[in-house]
Amino acid sequence: MPLSLNTVSTIEALRFQVNAWKMQGLRTALVPTMGALHEGHLELVRKGVRLADRVVVTIFINPKQFSPNEDLATYPRDIQGDLDMLAQVGAHLVFVPDGDEVYPPGFTSKVLLEGPALAGLEDRFRPDFFGGVTTVVAKLFNMANCDYAMFGEKDYQQLMVVTQMARDLNIPTTVIPVETVRGPGGLALSSRNAYLNKQELELAPEMNRLLHVAANDIRNGIETELATQKAGKVLSTAGFKLDYLEARHANTLAKLKAPSDPIRLLAAGWLGKTRLLDNIPV
Ligand code: PAJ
Repeated sequence: MPLSLNTVSTIEALRFQVNAWKMQGLRTALVPTMGALHEGHLELVRKGVRLADRVVVTIFINPKQFSPNEDLATYPRDIQGDLDMLAQVGAHLVFVPDGDEVYPPGFTSKVLLEGPALAGLEDRFRPDFFGGVTTVVAKLFNMANCDYAMFGEKDYQQLMVVTQMARDLNIPTTVIPVETVRGPGGLALSSRNAYLNKQELELAPEMNRLLHVAANDIRNGIETELATQKAGKVLSTAGFKLDYLEARHANTLAKLKAPSDPIRLLAAGWLGKTRLLDNIPV
């Protein structure tokens, strides 16, 4: 029988429950989200359920990772829908704090990484993003103190950044990557896909298709720069306003140096008012 889904909004209640589980020798997994959940998020929960005895999901739209010109005010919200889905996939606890619980008056700290957080990908176009993400994720890791934390490959640079942060700051939570969940045509599921109109929705899977074209070209011996430029041009002609489409070292996100470097292809760009991102291995 599935355990009932408990919702808490204070750090104290979250700590109390996780500690109680730990005292019983149960393993715990954390799934940080900003809500508006879809199958991608649910896959993180399912993997957490397989890996650990208890899964804690956090829903918090973190204002610190949005720039003033971004979509904080209009970011999709559906808390009741989220809770229904989480109950169905077997989450055990949902932490839904308000802004002051996470950032009380007088809060002044920021966690700032170098390395993958300064790779010149998302950070080039969203300068406030990783400072906000690492600050909130470090706090969530400390609040929940779980054994594992599930992060999607969909946001590949974010996955690399939080993995590096946990290692650098000796946070005793192991970051677990989860493969990207895709919809029709290979489109990576995203809460922001809700912004796409019908025509944009038809075009959106092209980003994934062209990443695969570039990956095939590279496997067939075409120079990475040439292959990514070609794919980028096709996407631009199709109507994307590309921020980047690049081949990078799969572990460090540094520019490629040696022919033996493991390669990840990463892309981000705009379709109308919606920013899409995707990545695949080569
Ligand atoms: P959010 O965009 O809600 O995503 C929460 C988690 O779900 C992230 O780890 C993300 O990579 C994963 N995810 C999203 N779409 C996915 C998909 N199609 N397949 C697999 N995983 C997917 O990422 C954030 O929130 C925030 O930056 C957060 C880490 C919560 C910090 O505020």
